[in-house]
Amino acid sequence: MSTAPYAQPMLRDGALAGKTIIVTGGGTGLGRAMTTYFLQLGANVVISSRKLDVLETTANELREQTHGKVLAVQCDVRKYDEVEKLLQRTVEEFGRVDILVNNAAGNFISPTERLSNKAFDVIVDIVLKGSYNCTLALGKHWIAQQQPGTILNIVTTYASVGSAFVVPSATAKAGVLALTRSLAVEWAKYGIRSVAIAPGPFPTEGAWSRLFPEPLASKLDPAASVPLKRVGSHQELANLAAFLVSDFASYINGEVVTIDGGEWLNGAGEFNKLELLTSDMWDMIEKTMRR
Ligand code: HXC
Ligand code: NAP
Repeated sequence: MSTAPYAQPMLRDGALAGKTIIVTGGGTGLGRAMTTYFLQLGANVVISSRKLDVLETTANELREQTHGKVLAVQCDVRKYDEVEKLLQRTVEEFGRVDILVNNAAGNFISPTERLSNKAFDVIVDIVLKGSYNCTLALGKHWIAQQQPGTILNIVTTYASVGSAFVVPSATAKAGVLALTRSLAVEWAKYGIRSVAIAPGPFPTEGAWSRLFPEPLASKLDPAASVPLKRVGSHQELANLAAFLVSDFASYINGEVVTIDGGEWLNGAGEFNKLELLTSDMWDMIEKTMRR
């Protein structure tokens, strides 16, 4: 898999100074990548998930790497009382919270008929319930404080089009997309923006171990279906996230930005598979058609 030819940090120094950001699932993968860049841009960041040891290790490493202020707080997003405690702890530490990134997720591939109802529940509870729990708690807080806020939801490209073999995730992410668009309108009057990112393939340990396990990994190249013929780099995702939560994006509301190298459109276009034809084949086809 080739990587991004260009993946430099994008915003100017201090672009997020004075902002406090909660990143759910911030200890690993894309959550960690976004947190790193938010810290480099001067934000205070609270990272949360179920595994406190993972969060604390990440927080220590990022403090050393960025010299930024990062706090690790254990919180299972499925439990509303834990989400309220996360909010309370954030306000105690930093005095305020400006931005919520709903990034925590669960997923695995499976034929749907093999799933137990609990397997379906566990994914929908983390992704959809977790996102609305955090959104509701933060929204109520911002409205009561008469303070503006920004919500960034990390969905997937299949939130819009659906996908076989990840049906609980597709169902839940579609709900999160509806949440994004609905509240973009309803809460705009309170100065609360809602936006989303729909990433294509970005290699992370969490996603790859559950979506491309062996023997699939050696048979299926996730970059092959991407017209740009590469997967995304974490900095590319972090650049987009930092822009969308920043004041530079203050007129962007209700938008879902796809960052997938053109992958989902490749799957959608009726004739896209003709990419496989060689120049000789095209010569032959043209001759036949013109005749
Ligand atoms: C079928 C499965 C299963 C599998 C678990 N279950 N794994 N069923 N196939 N591979 C079932 C279990 O048998 C159980 O049902 C139920 O699901 C709950 O499983 P637990 O292991 O008890 O749950 P838990 O410990 O809470 O773990 C949750 C998890 C786990 C989702 C299963 O994978 C996790 O913690 N994931 C978090 C991180 C993650 O998934 N990251 C990837 C995000 S990638 P029964 O009936 O037996 O009790 C992503 C991007 C997609 O979202 C797009 C990429 C391009
Ligand atoms: P990841 O590293 O596995 O991230 C998922 C995070 O969610 C983990 O840190 C996990 O931490 C946390 N989490 C899971 N259940 C939780 C719960 N109940 N409460 C709180 N936190 C919980 O995978 P990733 O690839 O970085 O995914 C990050 C986001 O990007 C997800 O929303 C995913 O759907 C999206 N995405 C990823 C890709 C990709 O290619 N990587 C593509 C499209 C979309 P704990 O285990 O400690 O709880």
